[in-house]
Amino acid sequence: METVVSGIRPTGNLHLGNYFGAVKNFLKMQNDANCLFFVADYHSLTTHPHPDNLNATVKQVLAEYLACGLNPDVSAIYVQSDLPEVAELFLLLNMIAYTGELERSVSFKEKIRKDPDNVNAGLLTYPVLMASDILIHKAAKVPVGKDQEQHLEYTRNYANRFNHLYGVEFFPEPVAYNFGVNLVKVPGLDGSGKMGKSEGEGNAVFLKDEPDVIRKKVMRAVTDSGPTEPNQKKPEVIENLFTLMKLVSSDDTVQHFEDSYNNCSIRYGDMKKQVAEDMNIFVAPIREKIKEISSDDKLISKVVKEGAEKARESGRKTLSEARKIIGIRSF
Ligand code: TYM
Repeated sequence: METVVSGIRPTGNLHLGNYFGAVKNFLKMQNDANCLFFVADYHSLTTHPHPDNLNATVKQVLAEYLACGLNPDVSAIYVQSDLPEVAELFLLLNMIAYTGELERSVSFKEKIRKDPDNVNAGLLTYPVLMASDILIHKAAKVPVGKDQEQHLEYTRNYANRFNHLYGVEFFPEPVAYNFGVNLVKVPGLDGSGKMGKSEGEGNAVFLKDEPDVIRKKVMRAVTDSGPTEPNQKKPEVIENLFTLMKLVSSDDTVQHFEDSYNNCSIRYGDMKKQVAEDMNIFVAPIREKIKEISSDDKLISKVVKEGAEKARESGRKTLSEARKIIGIRSF
């Protein structure tokens, strides 16, 4: 059976970008593949979270994923640092990861631009740790959003390089996966780039957001003064609003607003009201589930304990084989 791995950094609450970029695809695969899902707490250390908050954020993210429908009876759900084998594989893969190549990573460049005072080695080698997360289970598919595409390229490079260096067919070449043709990039509400937790207040709609919060955020979304000619090409901010609408609204609703855009009768206020309403209908059951699961410490600790056991079984096997291939043998 095919193995599928995905993860998230515990740096804040889950938003619609996380859901439509990654979670939705993972959910679809749960019953047909060997699925593993983890919270990437090691990765989050690159931005130095306070020790008092780390555990609570990991727990919150776990609750939110479970609320989305991740099923611990079929998927292994674990915390990255509960799988120490991943840290050893990371060390081994670092020997075939070249610094020049890592310095060219788009997300590394973006991170050092945003926080030039914290250019730590963990940031540079972030793609190596991510490759380890995936290769430790010899995964074939990785459901992620568009922003992770380059990281998967690094993963394939390391898998290939390892196989070539040692003359083996050991690691598969995993692909970033989406059921649609393309990987998804969910836009933010502020008109700039993608939805993200670090992009500033009002950019992201979180799965825990109450209806009035969602309404406020959506009503503030950036638009323009409206089309002046029939069938005019949409500017990016308007295209983004339509992209968001397509995620949560029915085809008929989208078509209605497409038509009114094309005949210049569109009122963005009405469109935003509709988007907010449909987002709320989508988010409401997940939000209620989050509340229920967040207070169920017993459930969360059972899930991650069992998840870690399953993950370690597969991790130990891969690591012990990798060590042998490299020539690390006991006397
Ligand atoms: P992270 O924590 O930034 O995001 C988690 C997942 O959500 C997706 N995502 C989006 N997709 C579409 N549109 C958006 N606006 C959007 N924002 C976030 C991300 O693509 C991701 O799939 N490096 C990873 C975590 C990670 C990982 C891994 C993932 C560590 N090791 C191994 C898969 C496999 C990250 O920072 O995701």
